[in-house]
Amino acid sequence: MALTGKHIIVGITGGIAAYKTATLVRLLVKSGAEVQVIMTPNAKEFICPVTLSTLSGKPVISEFFTANTGQWHSHVDLGLWADAMVIAPATASTIGKMANGVADNMLVTTYLSAKAPVFVAPAMDLDMMAHPSTARNIELLRSYGNHIIEPAEGELASHLIGKGRMEEPENIVKVLDGFFSDRQQLSGKRVMITAGPTYERIDPVRFIGNYSTGKMGYAIADEAARRGAKVTLVSGPVALRPKEAGVEVINVESAREMYSECISRFNDCDIAIMTAAVADYAPAEVADKKIKREKDDVPQITLVKNPDIAAALGKEKRQGQMLVGFALETNDESANALGKMKRKNLDMIVMNSLRDAGAGFGTDTNKITVFTRDERVIEYPLKSKPEVACDILDNIALLSACEVSD
Ligand code: C5P
Repeated sequence: MALTGKHIIVGITGGIAAYKTATLVRLLVKSGAEVQVIMTPNAKEFICPVTLSTLSGKPVISEFFTANTGQWHSHVDLGLWADAMVIAPATASTIGKMANGVADNMLVTTYLSAKAPVFVAPAMDLDMMAHPSTARNIELLRSYGNHIIEPAEGELASHLIGKGRMEEPENIVKVLDGFFSDRQQLSGKRVMITAGPTYERIDPVRFIGNYSTGKMGYAIADEAARRGAKVTLVSGPVALRPKEAGVEVINVESAREMYSECISRFNDCDIAIMTAAVADYAPAEVADKKIKREKDDVPQITLVKNPDIAAALGKEKRQGQMLVGFALETNDESANALGKMKRKNLDMIVMNSLRDAGAGFGTDTNKITVFTRDERVIEYPLKSKPEVACDILDNIALLSACEVSD
């Protein structure tokens, strides 16, 4: 079992589904996990802490201090101890606090300190679930990279029928188990990722650039690291940092710099994923002083072609290496993407269209279609970039599994 020895915080909030957490804790312990329960004060109205401390084998934490001893519970230490945190049931109130950083109890304070992946299993009445503020807060949690375990449809505590039932404990354990199994999926693999824009200098103060923010590439780097890969991220100028420790970042500015960093590293990697928006052209000459405004003359900038990094790696690719490219298109999307995959000798291409709302530069979401060299085409709905990163890495894992069995 992938959960053996894992440290799991089970955060329980004040909803009727709290009664199911006794089973959740029991199943996690049975799977070999060490469980620390944190309850909000309201949760204790729904299930007795003694039940949970007995099942988990650890005193339940609810307050910042133990009243009779004055012992302080460190949310920071707990956050560092955890391999995962699961908040089940997550009420609308707690989801709202988590989304907005309202740290007025031990559970939300620990959530804000946790470095580990967080799973949230909402549970509430159907109208609360459908309220725009709940929907917005859940979307915010998703955008932070939290995993939402969608509630099921069925009979609710109010006897109304609809969406809002907390997912069954057995399924929550399955989600966690699957997550930790995935983590071993890329273990030992060396993954190189390019991300962000490139800046092509004109003079000491100006450059030719583009709107790429690097969000997609950084999300893929984080997810690959979570799955056990050794990740090198060759990044153009962006305002991001990887969330996962252990992602090595090589900062570059221009396409030529990105090219030489990638070429020199490619031999040592198993998988290369080219998400960068590399400038196709650069000024032929870089002025060493700021170009002054002339009265009548307009300066002419002569451009030269930049190297195509993906195509160059495609030429060098050896048996067993996998090369993945991106295609951001505005028209004839599929034909263009397939053409690029062939031309650059890629194993897979991820296509996104600027015609789709929510896809492309700067957004927190993306809508992709994946084409693989074995002629599979998988179209995905609009998702958060961390979720899209999972889909991309799932396809890469599938493709390399096919290669092994070829
Ligand atoms: O040809 P196009 O620029 O649309 O191809 C996009 C794919 O090629 C992306 O994966 C991008 O990162 C990669 N690329 C590259 N070097 C270039 C241009 C594009 O690696 N100079």
